[in-house]
Formats: sequence, C-alpha cells, structure tokens
Amino acid sequence: MKIKSICCIGAGYVGGPTMAVIAKKCPQIKVTVVDINEARIAAWNDENVDNIPVYEPGLSDVVAEARGRNLFFSTDVDKAIHEADMIFISVNTPTKTYGEGKGLAADLKWIELCARQIARVSTTDKIVVEKSTLPVRTASTIKSILDHTGSGVNFQILSNPEFLAEGTAVEDLMKPDRVLIGGDQTPEGLEAIQSLVDVYAEWVPKDHILTTNVWSSELSKLTANAFLAQRVSSINALSELCEHTEADINEVARAIGSDSRIGPKFLKASVGFGGSCFQKDILNLVYISRSYGLDEVADYWEQVIKMNDHQKKRFAKKIIRSLYNTVNGKKIALLGWAFKKDTNDTRESAAIYVTDHLLFEHANVAVFDPKVREEQVFVDMDYLNTRSSEENRKYIDVVEDPYEACKGAHAIAIMTEWDEFKTYDWQRIYDNMLKPAHVFDGRNILDRKKLKQIGFQVYSIGTAD
Ligand code: NAD
Ligand code: UDX
Repeated sequence: MKIKSICCIGAGYVGGPTMAVIAKKCPQIKVTVVDINEARIAAWNDENVDNIPVYEPGLSDVVAEARGRNLFFSTDVDKAIHEADMIFISVNTPTKTYGEGKGLAADLKWIELCARQIARVSTTDKIVVEKSTLPVRTASTIKSILDHTGSGVNFQILSNPEFLAEGTAVEDLMKPDRVLIGGDQTPEGLEAIQSLVDVYAEWVPKDHILTTNVWSSELSKLTANAFLAQRVSSINALSELCEHTEADINEVARAIGSDSRIGPKFLKASVGFGGSCFQKDILNLVYISRSYGLDEVADYWEQVIKMNDHQKKRFAKKIIRSLYNTVNGKKIALLGWAFKKDTNDTRESAAIYVTDHLLFEHANVAVFDPKVREEQVFVDMDYLNTRSSEENRKYIDVVEDPYEACKGAHAIAIMTEWDEFKTYDWQRIYDNMLKPAHVFDGRNILDRKKLKQIGFQVYSIGTAD
C-alpha cells in the first residue's frame, strides 16, 4: 500500500520530532499529529515556532518548513484516525505506579486506550505502528483488541521502535544508524512492512532499514537501552574505585575506549543517568524476565539501576561530607536541571534526586538551567511527594541568571553538561562565593586545574581529591 496519510497519536518528545522529520522528507504524505493534551497541541501550533513544546536543536526549522504544508497538529483524534492509512502510536508508557507490576512493569493503559479508539473509529484498513517502547509481545494485545471490532476492517500491526536520543533528535532522525521494522511474516504482514520501509526509504539508505519479526523488534528496543544504560553504570561503578585508588576515570575511559571492540562512546562517568527511558525500560526488562521465572536474568539487569541510584546518592553525600557534614541553611547552587544537555526534558534527571537528598538536610538550593522553566522544577520536586509543596518552595530558589545562583553559595554542583557552563567567568563566580568555595562537577566538564588555580576546592567524578 502506498501511504498517503499518516496519523500519529501522541505529540510528545518522540511523536512531535519524528513526525516533523517524516513530513519534511515526504512532502507527498499528509502527517497529522494528535494529542489529548490541548495545551501541548496549542504550543505545537504556536505562530512563533520557537514556542513549540519540545526544545531540540534544529527542530523549529523543520517544523517551520512543514507545518501547514503537510504537517498538522490537532486534538481531533477521531478525524485523524479516520483519514489515515497508517497510524503511529507514540503515547507515554511509564512505569506502573499501582497494582500488579507496580514500580517495574510498563503501564499500558494509554496504549490500550489508543487501540480501542482506533478499533472504534476505523472504517478502512489500517497499518498500526507501535512507535512507543513496549514490552515484548504487546503487539498481540493490540491485535486482539483490533481483531474483535466486528467491523470487517483489516489491521496490520508493526513494531517500529524509536532510537532517537534527546538533544540530538533531529540529527538522529535525519541520519539514523538504523531503522527497525518488525511485522508478521505473512504475505499481508510483509506488505505492511514494505509500506513503512518505503516511507523511510525516502531519506534513509536501504541497508540501514532492518526488518524482523514483531517480537525481535519489540525486544531489541528494550535491549538497546539496557546495553547503553549498562555502559554508564559500568563506568560509574569504576569511577568510585578510581576515587579510592588515584586512577583517573577519564584516562581509564580513554584507554578502554580505544579498543575498537569496546569503542569510545557512552563511557562518560556522571552523577548518574536520567531521562524517561533507561530506568523505565530496564525495569520493564526485569519484570518480563521475572514473569518467565528468569531470576538470574532479572537480577543481572536490576543491578544497572541499583548502581545508578547509588551514584546519585553518593554524589549528594559527597557534597554534604565536604561541607563539614552539615548543609543546614547553606546555599548550594545547582547548575543544570535537564537530564542531559540540549533538551528541556527533566524526567528522571539526577538533579531531582540530588536536590531531594540535600533538602532532607535542610540546604537552600538555587537552581539555574538555560532551558528549564521554574514551574517545571517545582512540578518535578512535588511529584516526588517527599515533602510538602510549600517546603519545596521554601528551600528551592529557581533563578534566571547563573551568576545570581552562585552568589553567596558555599558550593556549586554541575548537574547537566550544558556547553555554556564551560565558558562562564569562573573567577567572578569564585569572588562572589563564600569560602572555602566548592565545585562538585557531576559531569566532568570543567577545567579542574584552572578551577583549583582560582582557589576552588574541586571534586570531579572518578578523580581522587
Ligand atoms: P511524552 O509523554 O512526551 O508524550 C506522549 C504524549 O502522548 C503526551 O503528550 C500525551 O498527552 C499523549 N497521549 C497519551 N495518551 C493519549 C491518547 N489516548 N490519545 C492522544 N494522546 C495521548 O512521551 P515521549 O517521550 O514522546 O515517549 C513516547 C514513547 O516513546 C514512550 O513509549 C517512550 O518510551 C518512547 N521513547 C521515548 C524516547 C525519548 O527520548 N523520549 C525515545 C525513544 C522512545
Ligand atoms: C536514550 C537512548 O540513547 C536512545 O537511543 C533511546 O531512544 C532513548 O533513550 P536519551 O535518554 O534521550 O536516549 O539520552 P542518552 O544520550 O542516551 O542519555 C541518557 C542519560 O545517560 C543522560 O542522563 C546522560 O547524561 C547519561 N549519560 C550518557 C552518561 O551519564 N554518560 C554517558 O557516557 C552517556
């Protein structure tokens, strides 16, 4: 089937950028992105393209080019489903917070709602594409819902997981390492796979488009994230050992990364990985493994999360210990709130957990992030539910100027690797701080030697003091 009209349910960090790039590269296809969140859709439609709800380098240009031509954002979900030949499901699949599988399994409530809505509205044959990250075998649930409509409409389910990383989403979408498409190995399934291959083939080289059965595709996505997170936890585990042995984690990373079998990427020691995906997807893998009785497999992957929690906690403890074991009433400046640079996404950011720990000790925390708004910082802290919203507001101050954040502080903690932090006037910052002035570089981005020359006490992850 030649695809003429695409609908994407979910206008978030994946749905928005992914569809914008498909619309840019395939001007002959009408692409409509729908969401139940009216404010989000209004922001995607904002006349000023700089106000779109997802910050990603290069994204506003792509949206400006395609929006109104063949890219549309709407809250009319039924209409978009009705018109489409191909429907992407790109809704959130967070970790369950209740019932069976609480704290581990993916909450598939939104996926099921989408499937039911597609079943109810469709009057012509559709290809339904899982873009959300889903537990292996979810396609059978969706298929079962769609096959019981009694309307005579035929549905093909494909799995097409998204591998973009935030902060580089547009680049990743324009030049993906690979596109993965899983589908039924029947003549109808293979035909559906080919329809989606043809969409991507407009700009992705054919040898970068991999096709598999549905289950391999679903499981590959969880596996890719588990492997990436495992690398971060592995290097972070070694960072603690470095601090005790005077080995330097940056030197160790360079030495092992030069082995072409290991490779240099994803070996940056940090305060811990964040983001909406790694933890959620590994927990999901743990849950699935346990549900098959594979306890050793589950324990193995669970350790990646335990290490990450440990890394966040030990960073906060290091701050407290260095400030003479009490931070009560002391001002600590946090530079960065996003979970990584070049995004305004804060989900599972290490900054949230480090702040929580510091607040238990009654520190006063001043937060600066170039792209995160004040209200988001409080949404994140209130969501933890560890203290009242009033208390969060009493202890946390979100400021718009980094120099103001650091003024009068005892310590600065670098939480996100924003490039601009490297170019600050660190002498000026030092002059306006209380002494001894500390920097805790949770991202190893600052020039440690230069800071020490200025007079700072410097802690870098994985380097002995
Ligand atoms: P998100 O929360 O930013 O966006 C999801 C959107 O879906 C929300 O705007 C929500 O209002 C909307 N939605 C939920 N139910 C709906 C319904 N029934 N009808 C219409 N809209 C509905 O989430 P995201 O970060 O875009 O992630 C989406 C999926 O993609 C998840 O499964 C995630 O694991 C996966 N993923 C995310 C990333 C990433 O970097 N964020 C990368 C790869 C894969
Ligand atoms: C990840 C996957 O990379 C992507 O393929 C998938 O589609 C979604 O999940 P994302 O979470 O957006 O992408 O960002 P990523 O670059 O993977 O970083 C995740 C976290 O790990 C961030 O907090 C980052 O700062 C941290 N990280 C990454 C490190 O601490 N060290 C590293 O070497 C790399």
